[in-house]
Amino acid sequence: MSKTMTIAIDGPAASGKSTLAKNLAEDLGYLYFDTGVMYRAITLVALERGIDVEDEEACTALAESVRIDIEPPSEERRLYDVLIDGDDKTWEIRESDVDANVSVVAACPGVRHALTRQQRRIGLSGDVVMVGRDIGTVVMPDADIKLYLDASVEERARRRFIDMLAQGEEVELEDVLASMRMRDQLDSGRDVAPLKPADDAIVLDSDKKSEEEVLEEVKRLVEENQVEPS
Ligand code: CDP
Repeated sequence: MSKTMTIAIDGPAASGKSTLAKNLAEDLGYLYFDTGVMYRAITLVALERGIDVEDEEACTALAESVRIDIEPPSEERRLYDVLIDGDDKTWEIRESDVDANVSVVAACPGVRHALTRQQRRIGLSGDVVMVGRDIGTVVMPDADIKLYLDASVEERARRRFIDMLAQGEEVELEDVLASMRMRDQLDSGRDVAPLKPADDAIVLDSDKKSEEEVLEEVKRLVEENQVEPS
């Protein structure tokens, strides 16, 4: 059997991971898989059902029972459709109350255990560009290429603020910045699978580069790393 390629892209919120991964996957003909969607989906269901996001047992039960499907986009403005138990929740998982709570849910060991298992199965099914916080460190430690995309918190908050305005959300830049700082702290400080570059990751700073520049740089890295199937 020929070897499949895995490209892992980790990094903090709004560092440009998703755009890079989507473009890279399109260019290479690989599957694009954004693992953050799964943590967001569980958080949305917890909020909708009035479940306390700090209740580890209840959140773990959700992660073990809720069905999350990621399908090709049904609208041009989307990267993919997200179905939760069959219902389209693609926009809802991006709302600010999910943003504000997702890192608490993602710190729950039971939730991570259930979702990591599913992510690994998808990751091993073919050539894939996989995005998240712990792909290179925990989910796919044998990935062929590991990237860690970073940018300053101010620049990342500015990008997220512009996205939210474009989607008609009424938000203040300083609130977005505060929420991003909080999420960074929770993601980097948690005991299980904290956000950090893998020892063998290539760290890229997207503050000083355009989307195109980052994409070209990564495509060069992929070409250099391309190994003949054994
Ligand atoms: O799009 P953005 O970078 O804001 O966030 P995301 O990638 O959708 O991830 C949302 C949250 O899920 C993160 O802040 C993490 O708390 C969590 N997450 C995680 O813990 N591990 C992953 N592999 C992916 C996301």
